[in-house]
Amino acid sequence: MAKVAGEKPFSEAVKERRATNSFEDVPIHDADLEKIIRAGLEAPSGYNLQPWRFVVVRDAEQKKRLRDASFGQPKVEQASAVIVACGDPQGWKDGDLEEMLRLAKEHGFGGDAEHDMARRNVTNFLGGAPGKAAGMEPTFDLWANRHTMIAYTTMMWAAETLGYDTAPMEGFMEDKVKELLKIPQRVRVVALLAIGRRKGPDNPYGGRFDPSRTVFAEEWGKKIQF
Ligand SMILES: Cc1cc2nc3c(=O)[nH]c(=O)nc-3n(C[C@H](O)[C@H](O)[C@H](O)COP(=O)(O)O)c2cc1C
Repeated sequence: MAKVAGEKPFSEAVKERRATNSFEDVPIHDADLEKIIRAGLEAPSGYNLQPWRFVVVRDAEQKKRLRDASFGQPKVEQASAVIVACGDPQGWKDGDLEEMLRLAKEHGFGGDAEHDMARRNVTNFLGGAPGKAAGMEPTFDLWANRHTMIAYTTMMWAAETLGYDTAPMEGFMEDKVKELLKIPQRVRVVALLAIGRRKGPDNPYGGRFDPSRTVFAEEWGKKIQF
């Protein structure tokens, strides 16, 4: 089992994480996988609507087929588990909104008046299209992607702090992945996350842009001082 004792501090995981190229052939411990997934599901989302869905692939034959749909990337087949992160842009209409309100009630978050208001707000906000009210190009796919990537990234860090190695992946053919995993047509496949134990040395660190290039103060282009 690809079990690693103890948890790393987050700062250490940030420093040490690299996108893994090659994995050992070891299964992931069920309890760890559950921890990783449950951590991701604690991610925040707009209106708490949680428009994410995840397909966890552990079966060797299924991983092989998923590899074929991922331009033959060997790590898809080698990893202990591959989490296929999906965004469902219409799930809110299909029961997620009502489930979110039921949970809020169960947890004592707001009363009937607040829940009615939330239902109206969500329906108005998403009924048109997210972003429309804010004057942006409305796209449900962007909305679902925004939230799914937070849960996905939380899973990546949870796996890393548990001592696993991870490989985020966008190299896949969405239509092929959807067909293989029987993902509904309206759902978008956002990214794959391979988890396991690294084989061989890590990739070298490729460096990151200096904040002077990517972070601004008060307005776009203005240099930030720390
Ligand atoms: C969303 C996402 C998709 C990626 N897709 C792939 C991929 O399909 N194949 C691959 O080999 N690396 C992929 N990478 C890994 C990146 O190349 C890698 O993270 C980047 O070069 C920085 O290296 P580091 O993560 O080791 O610091 C992806 C990374 C991210 C965040």
